[in-house]
Amino acid sequence: MSTFIPSLGRVCAVIGAQWGDEGKGKAIDMLAESFDVIARASGGANAGHTIFFGGKKHVFHLLPSGCFHAKKKVILGSGMVIHLPTLLQEIKELEDAGIEIRGRLGISYGAHIVLECYKNIDAALEERRSKGGTAIGTTKRGIGPAYMFKAMRSGLRMESLHMPETELKAEVLKIADLSQSLFGVKVDVDRELASLLAAAKELAPSLTTMSILLESLAKKEKILVEGAQATLLDIDHGTYPYVTSSATTAAGALQGLGLPPSCLTSVIGVAKAYCTRVGGGEFPTEATGDAEARLRERGGEYGATTGRPRRCGWLHIPALNVASLINGFSAWNITKLDVLDDEDEIPVGIARTDQDAQAPVPYEYLPGWKASTKGIRLFEDLPKNAQRFITFIEEKTMLPVRLIGTGPNREDMIVR
Ligand code: IMP
Repeated sequence: MSTFIPSLGRVCAVIGAQWGDEGKGKAIDMLAESFDVIARASGGANAGHTIFFGGKKHVFHLLPSGCFHAKKKVILGSGMVIHLPTLLQEIKELEDAGIEIRGRLGISYGAHIVLECYKNIDAALEERRSKGGTAIGTTKRGIGPAYMFKAMRSGLRMESLHMPETELKAEVLKIADLSQSLFGVKVDVDRELASLLAAAKELAPSLTTMSILLESLAKKEKILVEGAQATLLDIDHGTYPYVTSSATTAAGALQGLGLPPSCLTSVIGVAKAYCTRVGGGEFPTEATGDAEARLRERGGEYGATTGRPRRCGWLHIPALNVASLINGFSAWNITKLDVLDDEDEIPVGIARTDQDAQAPVPYEYLPGWKASTKGIRLFEDLPKNAQRFITFIEEKTMLPVRLIGTGPNREDMIVR
């Protein structure tokens, strides 16, 4: 039995190190058993994680991937932006699969609500940017506008679900006015209101303050913080402006959950054995031609939220090192190692090109292993060159790789 899981301590965060879609859900799934609370801090339905249970594939956007572990408390934190019909749909999907969720779900009063009109504003802003050739490639889930309204101090928080109908309507009218005057986007006030009222009935019993997590700390319960999006998409530290609108780092997660920084006992950095990105923005190690197509097909690299083909490329050590420093990673989870099984050689970007963005990234070419690693569960059983690939990452990032994903199934994981 590995000593890894006990070594994580009482509050562990799982954080993406690249541009999202690293496959954080699998580590969460494995770790959730050993924790009492699973908490998501930020972002909204721009995230997408695929979960298999009851012989069916489910794609969730708001509920954390740990939600289907019966009896674990599930928290949606203040840093989140929540599209209510999506949340209701996910709750229903869990219940239809026979999994009770309402009694153990806590939604922060402070989380912001994503209105339907925010999606239209998102689309309108993208349209304007794309005319100037600078489209971000957002998920069009209204995330940016939700955080804009939040920062303008004009957003609707989950606590508003407790308001009487007349007050709620007045709030929606204020937002409709801003939407029209600032963005030229007309709001269907009746539809927004109906959606809010329907959600109020269903969700009011789950609303809570974030002191619920402080109580968990006091009771010595173990908290697993499930990061959303990833470090290079962080609004402050990512590849701005091609980022999301929330804080995606470990510190951002603590902020979104109202947890004191000193409570964090470990941070697992999750990175693919290669790299992907959806949407615009820099990608120094992006592959081209056959190599990109191979990675996309073998890795199934299509967005879980939008279905868009992801841009694919190679691991970039400097980016991993930046992510590791910002988040204070304790260890790596390298995912999807098996996607590289057929490669003759594996390029790994080893330096930055800050001085000249056009300059080619310096690569080190590691020999491929040309053998299946699918389902391997012991490091010693990996082909020698696959072991070498992992130790190369450890040497270059000075951080141990403690979890290695070797396939899509739950059990396809090496724990060291
Ligand atoms: P937004 O979060 O929808 O505003 O999109 C901003 C950028 O973040 C776009 O490039 C999206 O593709 C990217 N993004 C947002 N959420 C995710 C995610 O969960 N995985 C990968 N990319 C994401």
